[in-house]
Amino acid sequence: MTDRLASRPIAPADGQPARLPRFKSRVVPVVVIENPTQAVPLAEALLAGGIDVIEITLRSEAALAAIEAVARAVPAMCVGAGTLTRPEQVAETQRAGARFALSPGATPALLSAAAAAGMPFVPGVATASEAITARDAGFTLLKLFPAAALGGVDLLRAWSSPLPELRFCPTGGVTVADLPRYLALANVAMVGGSWLTPAAALRAGDWAEVTRLAREAVSAAGAPKS
Ligand code: 3PG
Repeated sequence: MTDRLASRPIAPADGQPARLPRFKSRVVPVVVIENPTQAVPLAEALLAGGIDVIEITLRSEAALAAIEAVARAVPAMCVGAGTLTRPEQVAETQRAGARFALSPGATPALLSAAAAAGMPFVPGVATASEAITARDAGFTLLKLFPAAALGGVDLLRAWSSPLPELRFCPTGGVTVADLPRYLALANVAMVGGSWLTPAAALRAGDWAEVTRLAREAVSAAGAPKS
């Protein structure tokens, strides 16, 4: 099976075959950027709070410009593109400077486009069959979406025995209070969520609040797995 998730391990000791550009954070902020000028101060605020990864979703006109701004101006931030639903978005986000991409789904067209582009890609799955399909295409780090609605921790625990080679990034309905229980599971590599970057804080330029939320999440996530 070809590993198409990139070139370096997420963490040296997590034992998983899935690969992404290196970052330390086990919490991935999922962001909707309304104005590209928000992107750089937001990335810097997250870094100040100890988070070195960001998922900028393709849910706004500003998304590609925001990805480009962070990739250019904040090299310490591992910028990912989120909410890819069409295969051509793989090349678009790669050109903008995204180091990896995520999707709420795992269509054959998306899996093929990511593999062909050599783009580190985290497909979204909601069923065991989708997870197996993604695995068979070479993707072993998967986004469980929407995690809370699907069964969250209980679902991931149930999948760990029949699907031991897979690792997950549960996202959707996750809160800071859920972090310890998700991250205690051996098949959870990281957790995603939008609670770290409230739209009101972005609009107001309240970067201190973003840093505070980031610190809180880093502290709730605890130390990386050894
Ligand atoms: C996503 O795109 O991953 C989700 O919309 C994030 O879900 P949340 O807003 O419930 O954190």
